[in-house]
Amino acid sequence: MKKFWSILLASMMILSLTACGGSASASSEAAPASSSEAASSEAAPASSEAASSEAASSEAAAEEAVEIPTMPDVSNIDMAALDAQIDELAANVTLANEGKLVMGTSADFAPYEFHILDNGADKIVGFDVALGQAIADELGVEFEVKDISFDSILMELNAGTIDLGIAGFSPTPDRMAAVDMSLLYYTGGQSLMIRKSDADKYTGLSDFGAGKSVGAQTGSIQEGLAKEHTPDAALVSLQTVPSIIMELKSNKIDAAYIETAVAEGYVKTQDDLMILCEVPFDAEGSSVAVKKGNDGMLEFVNAVITKVVANGDMAKFVEEANALSEQSAG
Ligand code: ARG
Repeated sequence: MKKFWSILLASMMILSLTACGGSASASSEAAPASSSEAASSEAAPASSEAASSEAASSEAAAEEAVEIPTMPDVSNIDMAALDAQIDELAANVTLANEGKLVMGTSADFAPYEFHILDNGADKIVGFDVALGQAIADELGVEFEVKDISFDSILMELNAGTIDLGIAGFSPTPDRMAAVDMSLLYYTGGQSLMIRKSDADKYTGLSDFGAGKSVGAQTGSIQEGLAKEHTPDAALVSLQTVPSIIMELKSNKIDAAYIETAVAEGYVKTQDDLMILCEVPFDAEGSSVAVKKGNDGMLEFVNAVITKVVANGDMAKFVEEANALSEQSAG
């Protein structure tokens, strides 16, 4: 088995120096199993129902049953018609608290959502926050950001204490059994980060076997990636991404699974870190999470996402968030 992987790795290295050495088919077979573990720790009560009704069906069937969201198709958009549609859909949106849209997030994930000091005052910013604000603006209501631990967001969503979960959520089949997931508003991959001083020790994922330790955020798909791609390494699950980065910098772990956009931010500002390679993953992108069955909210959110992707606002949100993140770190 080891030999197989090293031959595969060697052949992959010829194709791409930055690929981690996994194959696309290996990742699509293993993904449902690993993500179901990740989902169960964060799944809301509703999901246990869904999970048990699906328990009999095979993993492959479970994966087929849900359609993983894509980016909106904005090739032929009539913006006036879309605006009219957004107004219409707004009428069917019900909120947890009248007159206010509450977004739940885990603000440890620049450039998606993070804290800055704005004239001495703590503020949560990022492109997820800008998207949440755009959704609230289209609804004509106030906007509030609730900063909670990543692994409790979907629970709060189904409990009805927040209206939306916007936290760079990857739409996996298991999550989609517990909550509804919007169209993608952003696409980005997964990376494995290491210390720069270890650069010549490693060539790819297969170097992280027994005796090595890898970090991932609790309740994230990165936990699943770790179990799938580096099953023999010790998995260190931590509540926040900055704490994973701290552990990596201080030699407590050997590598960390981090979303590529987030990893790139750290690499720009932290001289001692680098991205070893990209990690293959099926659901490469981010969705807004909506309470299961809240179709009015889901359709509205999808329409607003279509609008901000089509008119270029989403790209601006990303650009602004990247600039803010570099400023605040520098
Ligand atoms: N995309 C990954 C997931 O869905 C990680 C998201 C982490 N988000 C955060 N705000 N810390 O599991």
